[in-house]
Amino acid sequence: MKVLRINAIDTYPIRQQMLRPDSPIDKCKFDGDEEDQTFHLGAFMDNKLVSVASFYFEKHPDLEEPFQFRLRGMATLPDYQHKGLSTELLKMAFPIIKQNFCHLCWCNARVSATGFYQKVGFEKVGEEFDIPGIGPHLLMFKKLG
Ligand SMILES: CC(C)(COP(=O)(O)OP(=O)(O)OC[C@H]1O[C@@H](n2cnc3c(N)ncnc32)[C@H](O)[C@@H]1OP(=O)(O)O)[C@@H](O)C(=O)NCCC(=O)NCCS
Repeated sequence: MKVLRINAIDTYPIRQQMLRPDSPIDKCKFDGDEEDQTFHLGAFMDNKLVSVASFYFEKHPDLEEPFQFRLRGMATLPDYQHKGLSTELLKMAFPIIKQNFCHLCWCNARVSATGFYQKVGFEKVGEEFDIPGIGPHLLMFKKLG
């Protein structure tokens, strides 16, 4: 298994399959995908991209830390889940975020995935909210030492 930096466009097929199965690939582009401070990571097994995550320099209005990164588009193909790949992507991402003088990473977590985020050290904040067409979410964050 290898973790590498990838381009935004490389994330779109896995985003579409795992996060937006009913949407065209255009809807799998996120605001900020091409910003200078944004970075995208991918995990490769036998040279096949099987897990992705993207990180944006973006402050959440309800979180006080002045400089924050947002995690979005975290997904692993079904045959490769529960093998620690998303955890490896985060292990690679956190030092990069800290090098950018940011000590907090947050995400709007699907309720179905909150167990994963808790295992990797994220905490829940506030009440559940709905993202139309996608479902219930919770704001979660992790402080990065
Ligand atoms: C959530 C997701 C990204 C996790 O990816 P993964 O590569 O399987 O994660 P890991 O293997 O690194 O899992 C780390 C730990 O979290 C656990 N875990 C994984 N998915 C979980 C889930 N949905 N709920 C509870 N625990 C979960 C794993 O069992 C593992 O624990 P362990 O080390 O004790 O075995 C993956 O299940 C996925 O793509 N889901 C569909 C898309 C999605 O919902 N993305 C999140 C959007 S907010």
